[in-house]
Amino acid sequence: MLKGKDMLSIHDLSVDEVQEILALAKELKAKQKAGVPHKILEGKTLGMIFEKSSTRTRVSFETGMYQLGGQALFLSNRDLQLGRGEPIRDTARVLSRYLDGIMIRTFGHDRVEELAKWADIPVINALTDLLHPCQVLTDLLTIEEYKGKNLKGLKMAYVGDGNNMTNSFLYGCAKVGMTFVAATPEDYRPDATVFKNALEDAKETGASLSLVTDPHEAVKDADIVVTDTWASMGQEAEHEARKKIFAPYQVNKELLEGADKRVIVMHCLPAYRGEEITEEVLEANADVIFDEAENRLHTQKAIMALTMAD
Ligand code: CP
Ligand code: NVA
Repeated sequence: MLKGKDMLSIHDLSVDEVQEILALAKELKAKQKAGVPHKILEGKTLGMIFEKSSTRTRVSFETGMYQLGGQALFLSNRDLQLGRGEPIRDTARVLSRYLDGIMIRTFGHDRVEELAKWADIPVINALTDLLHPCQVLTDLLTIEEYKGKNLKGLKMAYVGDGNNMTNSFLYGCAKVGMTFVAATPEDYRPDATVFKNALEDAKETGASLSLVTDPHEAVKDADIVVTDTWASMGQEAEHEARKKIFAPYQVNKELLEGADKRVIVMHCLPAYRGEEITEEVLEANADVIFDEAENRLHTQKAIMALTMAD
């Protein structure tokens, strides 16, 4: 179903396509653990354009492509002519002649849309200022592993900045029928258009999505509590000011007292201990958080296999 398609946003995926990605991710994870070869992308090449830093995304895509029998090229915008002003539409048409897929991490979401418009090979969004779909699909897989296959009705509370992760959680939770409550300061809510679209998506699955300002209200009886940095890539200059604004939104032991007794805490990483999460909470949930990081590999292998295989 996803063959030849782009993966720019979970909003663009059908409910079944989300399930298909999660199912294949699980299958590929089991195969990799059992040492069963799965060279679905033999002879294929993925180009990986990075206009922002990365640890997990770069290493998991590159390793994932290798495990699928293909190869990956790391293309930093410091080296590409794109970084010297070559238009995206030209870059897209050139790369389409060499590669079988492009992964891109950049600032404006419009850059990814432009790339996808001009490329005639699948384009995968590996984070923009607006969305981080690969991470949220990974998080859904991780929640299935910890809370069971039926995600419907589970409550996730997001606490902190209404950023690319929050936007993608809105889309992701809508597609799987979860209850999602984001607690952010009034002026740092997730994107209004994303929220509107996600509410539409939620009608199909019965998901419940809401935005509040009180972290205690969001966390009440939550099965999953999630947070992310208070200053995303590109917002470094605002970091100090943001520390003050977001101080009441720290995920700490006291906040978690209101959650379900079996609550798990997730974080896409990198984490800023003492800011959005305490050392104590992070380390108490290290198994989940590092499984979450590992699952980037399996989920992205599924996305690449479904979009790029013959
Ligand atoms: N979570 C995530 O995307 O990590 P990186 O920025 O290290 O890729
Ligand atoms: N919101 C963070 C996520 C990092 C993986 C950022 O955009 O920097």
